[in-house]
Amino acid sequence: MSKIVAGLVGYGRMGGFFLKALMADERWVVKYVCDSYEPSRRKAREVAPNAIVTDNIDDIYDDPEVDVVVLAALAEGRCERIEMAVAKGKHVISEKPIADSLENERRAWKAVEGSGRLSAVNLYLRNSWYHNMMKDFIDSGEIGELAVVRLCHMTPGLSPGEGHDFEGPSFHDCGMHYVDITRFYAGSEYKTMRAQAMRFWNYKDPWWLQAQGTFENGVVFDITQSHTYGQLSKVQTHLSYADIQGTKGIVRMSHDFKYSTVDMHGVNVTERVTRPHGGKNIDVLLKNFAASIDAGRPINLPSFKDAVVASEFAWKCLDDAWTHDMPAKGTLEELDEIHQRRWNMKEGEGYGLIRHK
Ligand SMILES: NC(=O)c1ccc[n+]([C@@H]2O[C@H](COP(=O)([O-])OP(=O)(O)OC[C@H]3O[C@@H](n4cnc5c(N)ncnc54)[C@H](O)[C@@H]3O)[C@@H](O)[C@H]2O)c1
Repeated sequence: MSKIVAGLVGYGRMGGFFLKALMADERWVVKYVCDSYEPSRRKAREVAPNAIVTDNIDDIYDDPEVDVVVLAALAEGRCERIEMAVAKGKHVISEKPIADSLENERRAWKAVEGSGRLSAVNLYLRNSWYHNMMKDFIDSGEIGELAVVRLCHMTPGLSPGEGHDFEGPSFHDCGMHYVDITRFYAGSEYKTMRAQAMRFWNYKDPWWLQAQGTFENGVVFDITQSHTYGQLSKVQTHLSYADIQGTKGIVRMSHDFKYSTVDMHGVNVTERVTRPHGGKNIDVLLKNFAASIDAGRPINLPSFKDAVVASEFAWKCLDDAWTHDMPAKGTLEELDEIHQRRWNMKEGEGYGLIRHK
């Protein structure tokens, strides 16, 4: 099997996960790591001494040996990077959202469509064992006809104003994963929606949002997402589950980021499965991408279209929430306290800690 040569752009939190997974998979070679920030480059040199560490992305575009450009910096400028990578004949793996505005996301999608190059987005829930196991269970008919899909993901994660300014409020930045995976279950397109949000700590944007509505095929959904969950609690925790009801049975999942447990209560099968959570499943994404390169067509790759649909609907939910009463609770002083706490947290202590400048 020929090696797949990658150039990684952005070595922050997600770039760190990508580098680790790329280096652990012997099919892949990391030839370049590109970051605009010297401390990130210094760290990359320590972790990947055989890679060329640069602040010039053109090194990656101009090297004919590079097969895949992995875009893990921020959404600003990502559309242009996607266009340039494809123009230079590279395949692309992109973080989500694939650009910093819907207009640019559509442009990026257009750039890969019909380009003959492969592309994938790190909509990582699609690569998780638990969501695939639950989908298979639903498709087997064990819960009857799919009726209600409820997703909840609340963590003390990235707080407002702390970073990811180009990715939008929490329900867009993180919530688009849950918008996407709900659509994956429904197997249909979103039809109606009503959203309720809360402006925690009097921040200008809502950081807690719940949306309910229907799909074209009549499936009802309910999504709750926030990064406001117990930010100042002494010992932080989170609440993350999927709860899916059919006309005959149910299937549900919860996790603690270490292990995930799937509970299946079907007409014939009653089973509980607990396995390691799997984190961002980048190992699975890389394996599927390699298989896709071998086959010359996408195999189990979350697509740019999936990312655009999820992003657009997440923005719609945020827009809708502004048309209803949107209370504020808490103060900007509390938010300062949260920023300081997260600033001082070490890797592994908090949720979704980004690399601070
Ligand atoms: N798929 C997921 O589950 C998931 C989870 C978290 C974040 N993300 C996405 O991943 C992206 C990165 O997030 P993060 O949390 O790693 O952020 P981060 O701030 O930790 O890292 C970003 C890195 O990109 C670098 N960078 C910025 N501009 C650059 C440029 N022009 N060229 C090269 N490097 C540049 C920064 O110096 C930094 O090292 C965001 O778009 C975010 O939405 C995805």
